[in-house]
Amino acid sequence: MSSFRRLLGFTMLLSWVVTTLGFVGVAQQVVAQTSSVDAYIATESPAAKAGVLANIGPSGAKCQGAKAGVVIASPSNTNPDYVFTWTRDSSLVFKMLIDQYTLAIDSSASLRTLIDQFVAAEASLQQTSNPSGLISTGGLGEPKFNIDGSAFTGPWGRPQRDGPALRATALITYANWLIKNSNTTFAESTLWPIIKLDLDYVAINWNLTTFDLWEEIDSSSFFTTAVQHRALREGITLANTLGVSSSVTAYPTQADNILCFLQSFWHPSGSMPFMTANTGGGRSGIDANTVLASIHTFDPQAGCDSTTFQPCSDHALANLLAYTQAFRSVYSINANLASTAALATGRYPEDVYMGGNPWYLATFAVAEQLYDALEVWNSQGSLQVTSLSQPFFALFDSSIAPGTFASSTSTFTTLTTAIKAYADSYIALAAKFTPSNGGLAEQYSRDDGSPLSAVDLTWSYASALTVFEARSGTKFASWGAKGLTVSSQCATNAGGNGETIPVTFNVDATTVLGENIYIAGSVNALQDWDADNALLLSSANYPIWSITVNLPANTIVQYKYIRKDGGSVTWESDPNNQFTTNGSGAQTLNDSWR
Ligand SMILES: *[C@@H]1O[C@H](CO)[C@@H](O)[C@H](O)[C@H]1NC(C)=O
Ligand SMILES: *[C@@H]1O[C@H](CO)[C@@H](O)[C@H](O)[C@H]1NC(C)=O
Ligand SMILES: *[C@@H]1O[C@H](CO)[C@@H](O)[C@H](O)[C@H]1NC(C)=O
Ligand SMILES: *[C@@H]1O[C@H](CO)[C@@H](O)[C@H](O)[C@H]1NC(C)=O
Repeated sequence: MSSFRRLLGFTMLLSWVVTTLGFVGVAQQVVAQTSSVDAYIATESPAAKAGVLANIGPSGAKCQGAKAGVVIASPSNTNPDYVFTWTRDSSLVFKMLIDQYTLAIDSSASLRTLIDQFVAAEASLQQTSNPSGLISTGGLGEPKFNIDGSAFTGPWGRPQRDGPALRATALITYANWLIKNSNTTFAESTLWPIIKLDLDYVAINWNLTTFDLWEEIDSSSFFTTAVQHRALREGITLANTLGVSSSVTAYPTQADNILCFLQSFWHPSGSMPFMTANTGGGRSGIDANTVLASIHTFDPQAGCDSTTFQPCSDHALANLLAYTQAFRSVYSINANLASTAALATGRYPEDVYMGGNPWYLATFAVAEQLYDALEVWNSQGSLQVTSLSQPFFALFDSSIAPGTFASSTSTFTTLTTAIKAYADSYIALAAKFTPSNGGLAEQYSRDDGSPLSAVDLTWSYASALTVFEARSGTKFASWGAKGLTVSSQCATNAGGNGETIPVTFNVDATTVLGENIYIAGSVNALQDWDADNALLLSSANYPIWSITVNLPANTIVQYKYIRKDGGSVTWESDPNNQFTTNGSGAQTLNDSWR
């Protein structure tokens, strides 16, 4: 990597600038830090881009054996072994690359080729049967695969239900750009079928537990729920654009249900309220999960909306305060820092994985949330301090009281200038612990900041690039978060408020004496796939077997018929039958045994 070599020397200079900052006055500090951060970005940006590309097959320099379009998590092959492809990491990385391509930050033909290879690789992974199931039986929730595209069959924390949502968001971003650039054909015939599989998975499964993004806790996870909500919303818009909204009639109801559920993660009690990361796990609940959720569901059109946890919302700012301060006493490199100095931050304060150190991507995420917030305050020309966000703003002005401050006021200028400097200090902190070749590992030491755990983590590089873009005011697309309202009563994945409709299943099935036909499927009323308790159909109109079941309205339902003869049980062949229940009335399905 020759581009890395010319960085030698720079970081030594930079660390001198950063360590010297403590001794200069406040006004100078803002200036000094801004220029040092600018200098870091100027060299780290190409280094991070090269770091990402080195980890993508088929020709990335550090991922031999990776199939075209496959992203390896890191070239580290031992302690930890990350030479696998995770749907989450790959989708976040390609969302960044697709943004770069579609926003003309990098319009190169080679990037377009890579994006198309990613599309093909993910379409093939979707169809790869794996320990989470077949494509029709939950296989989309599989978290990671081998880099040649085959299934990873070892034990793992599965399923992880954020992957399909993040992949859909990356591909929807690409589809929207293609449509704007007169290539609706590719969006419709190649991307939409892949996107729809992922979104159907979200619509059917969002209300089931999942392993969280750190692959440790099996419960409900805020990050997962937030990105699922975003993906469904933008999927609905894309379906409308493509004129296929009749195939996604279940999505609007499920998006409303997910948004309602999202609110339940708020943890209001105590002096520092926060968004709890998981419903299980027995920890404080303070976690980078929530900051990542905020930046990855940022919608510049949504203002400072709290219901979608926008970066400048009072909930997200209160949460950011609780999150950052939680690491003050945990890492020794944070000892004795001033209240407005950047704190090294990691996944969660109780973390012990690979020593439980700060993570580059978590530290960058703090800055990214603040740059996103600054962009909205500047574009709307005002900033609001509420009683909830007041402790956050008090870091920068101890006498600040709740109120709305127009951009013409000195309070607005003081606060936004200080918050920009505070955000920059997180970049400067990461810069201080970036080695001279620009390499970004997974973690940096809680004691001295030296890089630790997996080297060249693709997600670390992607997080550097997205925070740099946020800082430079890149205009990211809206996904439809503006003006959403939350219903007062949260429904499960059943249709709105538990409404049900009668659905009649008719199946043409020839049987021999002693055989009977049953049905089981993906919802409670169809026994949640339990063959032992499958529902018996009536043979009154033999060879048509029938049953009428009350099913939740506006819901994607999967089912199969089962043939039982004494102890022998035969399921219909794959794939599962699937349909969406209507919002009201009765529905009839006429099937033939497969
Ligand atoms: C549409 O995009 C696909 C994917 O990049 C490309 O292969 C195809 O040539 C494009 N078609 C047109 C008409 O530009
Ligand atoms: C399912 O949704 C209901 C209603 O929002 C919620 O109370 C429950 O915790 C959810 N369960 C899971 C596992 O998501
Ligand atoms: C109800 O479901 C049937 C399929 O069983 C479909 O043909 C019909 O269009 C649906 N009605 C509405 C109002 O969606
Ligand atoms: C199903 O079959 C019945 C007759 O067996 C017929 O009356 C009905 O219209 C059919 N419904 C659909 C949706 O094909």
